[in-house]
Amino acid sequence: MLPEKKQVLIVDDEPNLRKILSAQLTRDGYDVLTAEDGEAGLQVLRDHHIDLVITDLKMPKVDGMALLKQALEEDPELPVVMITAHGTVDTAVEALKTGAFDYLTKPFDKDEVRQIVGKALKTRDFARTDASRADPAHGAKFGIIGTSAGIIDLYSVIERVAATPTTALITGESGTGKELVARALHEHSTHADKPFIKVNCAAIPKELIESELFGYERGAFTGAVSSKPGRFELANGGTLFLDEIGEIPVEMQVKLLRALQESEFERVGGIKTIHVDVRLVAATNRDLKKLIAQGAFREDLFYRLNVVPIRLPALRERATDIPILVGHFLEKFNTRLRKEVVGVEPDAMEVLSTYPWPGNIRELENVIERAVLFCDAAKMRTEDLPAEVRGTVPVFATPYAEDFTRNVSPEGGLKEHVKVAMSKLERELVSRALVQTNGNVTHAARLLKISRKGLQLKMKELGLRENTTDRD
Ligand SMILES: Nc1ncnc2c1ncn2[C@@H]1O[C@H](COP(=O)(O)OP(=O)(O)OP(=O)(O)O)[C@@H](O)[C@H]1O
Ligand SMILES: [Mg+2]
Repeated sequence: MLPEKKQVLIVDDEPNLRKILSAQLTRDGYDVLTAEDGEAGLQVLRDHHIDLVITDLKMPKVDGMALLKQALEEDPELPVVMITAHGTVDTAVEALKTGAFDYLTKPFDKDEVRQIVGKALKTRDFARTDASRADPAHGAKFGIIGTSAGIIDLYSVIERVAATPTTALITGESGTGKELVARALHEHSTHADKPFIKVNCAAIPKELIESELFGYERGAFTGAVSSKPGRFELANGGTLFLDEIGEIPVEMQVKLLRALQESEFERVGGIKTIHVDVRLVAATNRDLKKLIAQGAFREDLFYRLNVVPIRLPALRERATDIPILVGHFLEKFNTRLRKEVVGVEPDAMEVLSTYPWPGNIRELENVIERAVLFCDAAKMRTEDLPAEVRGTVPVFATPYAEDFTRNVSPEGGLKEHVKVAMSKLERELVSRALVQTNGNVTHAARLLKISRKGLQLKMKELGLRENTTDRD
């Protein structure tokens, strides 16, 4: 039920092309497998579940056309994208007639690949489910924007879960859309006309949680001058959304578990048992398994909540969605701020697409809001973006790559260029790890699989300053 990564197979006899394509697709959130000729490709198809094939036409042993035919014989719905050389339109057309989904003509760029892959996987998904549910408006469904594999899977999970009264547990980093999904589950259920009640467990003082959730009777404690229903009662017939469930005190967890198991409870200071019919949706950005191990979360409650787990991917795991999210927020803030920014310059979009977005969609939304506000050109430019977003253009993104390929100076030569490129790449990876861990050197070192001391030395060498937020 977890939205899994889609598996893409790349078949090409040119190692370089395999490498570049697979790096891009991995970055876009796919699982990538590669094969160096048609024969090896067919073997991978037999051994793995593959959602999409990208294959070269001309290859030793079994060529692209033969691979296409054989693959479609085994799975007629498998999308196969052919790579063709410039000027070989005839073969491309023949491939389409045979059943290829589409073709890419060399040399192709990232966006072409992204578009075709996104389209192919989406088409396949809809072919497998119900074609009539396809949404033409950039795949927005339930107010959730995205066409990446992870989000398309999410749409179908929401559809299935909304129709049933089961409990769902939504997990994901901060800003990934947990609340949006919780509301979507409610709005597409049969009790959409009933209340949706949200409780932010992190925002309520520990000693008030019980009365907040279950209500209280008059005189239950000092100040309880009249009785009051709790959020469970208010949500009766509808959905109760317990946000930040990981913050709920252990003592309360027992009471919550009972209320969930028996659908009944008593108000604080009350003796009457109250029955409710509530669909529960919980969300957290904490790792509950870890909290269980630390004794901060009850395992029985976890299993009671985790009937349907919904994991929301981080934005960097679904970078293909960035352009349409940017378009969506651009429209939103143009209207709200009465601006007319008509689009985004390609290099600014490149920057937006490669930044790792530790604060996910919320951070992207804030960045676009600010950029729209300050932008005084027709299109959003790199300089309209905040420094921290601009600071992480990867080494192999267009500007650097062009640097290296166009300006090979006679005195530099290969060795010198590779050295410079390596140190840029090193600096980039180290900075990214630091951004991802909020500047925590210990955590960044773990991520980079080097020692803390080693990382400190590396940072010094690269001229990166140590952040003061590192506490351990
Ligand atoms: N797929 C999406 N399409 C459009 N907007 C989105 C999407 N996901 C999230 N958003 C927007 O991003 C913002 C953050 O989403 P939300 O509040 O649901 O995140 P969250 O996971 O609950 O974050 P936190 O853990 O910090 O509470 C909201 O403004 C929401 O509307
Ligand atoms: Mg939230």
